[in-house]
Amino acid sequence: MALLECKSLGIQFGGLKAVDNFNVSIEEGSLYGLIGPNGAGKTTVFNLLTGVYKPTVGSIKLNGSTISGLKPVQISKLGIARTFQNIRLFSNMTVLDNVKTALHNEIRYSLLSDFLHDFNYSKKEALMDEKAEDFLKVFELDEFKNLKAGNLAYGQQRKLEIARALATRPKLLLLDEPAAGMNPQETAELMDTIKLIREKYKITILLIEHDMKLVSGICEYLTVLNFGTELVSGTPGEVLNDHRVITAYLGE
Ligand SMILES: Nc1ncnc2c1ncn2[C@@H]1O[C@H](COP(=O)(O)OP(=O)(O)OP(=O)(O)O)[C@@H](O)[C@H]1O
Ligand SMILES: [Mg+2]
Repeated sequence: MALLECKSLGIQFGGLKAVDNFNVSIEEGSLYGLIGPNGAGKTTVFNLLTGVYKPTVGSIKLNGSTISGLKPVQISKLGIARTFQNIRLFSNMTVLDNVKTALHNEIRYSLLSDFLHDFNYSKKEALMDEKAEDFLKVFELDEFKNLKAGNLAYGQQRKLEIARALATRPKLLLLDEPAAGMNPQETAELMDTIKLIREKYKITILLIEHDMKLVSGICEYLTVLNFGTELVSGTPGEVLNDHRVITAYLGE
């Protein structure tokens, strides 16, 4: 059984079918790429998967259970986490605290101990610091843990957003153009880190990326969206050599 299965998924905004008859099946543990020209509907697919938008038609199943129609917080608890095309961090909070906000799912302590600031509280707070730092280390951000997130360099902010998403311990991680705005070296390093986290945390990753070369280097399977609908799916080799893809990107 696939980890994620979308069937005939669609959403319409007024007269515009932003996503139309979208089908995808993603096996557990895979690194799957979603590509397509500007406005093709890639981010809208993420908004559908995470419950930000309710599909007009079609179904989404995670591990065989229907999740379409659920609220974003319910979907997050079921194991889907994401990053945003436009970075959304708590820029006035420290780097460490940004990751800790995602750990609150995992480590709970009673309101009373929170209030009393007792031993239990400080022990759990220390445990959270340690866990959050582990995620920061993966992205070489631990040395900046006390900086405000808004003061990080742009590429580091992108990495912090991934670290925070990972800290919710998702089964499926959705990355929306994680390398946008990075230079070629930062991009190459980030792609290596993405491969590494897939293995280290045994997660499945769905990656939106503009640069076809980049996705084909790390993804096992790709779907190309065009005008909201699936144009071609296949291995990078199959997709990149498909004349329909070349036409969609470069025009006739
Ligand atoms: N809430 C909304 N209301 C109306 N139209 C929307 C809404 N969200 C997305 N759209 C439209 O849906 C289409 C797909 O947008 P989407 O952001 O998913 O594209 P994309 O593939 O992510 O593009 P890009 O590569 O530029 O990020 C666009 O025409 C967009 O204007
Ligand atoms: Mg987008």
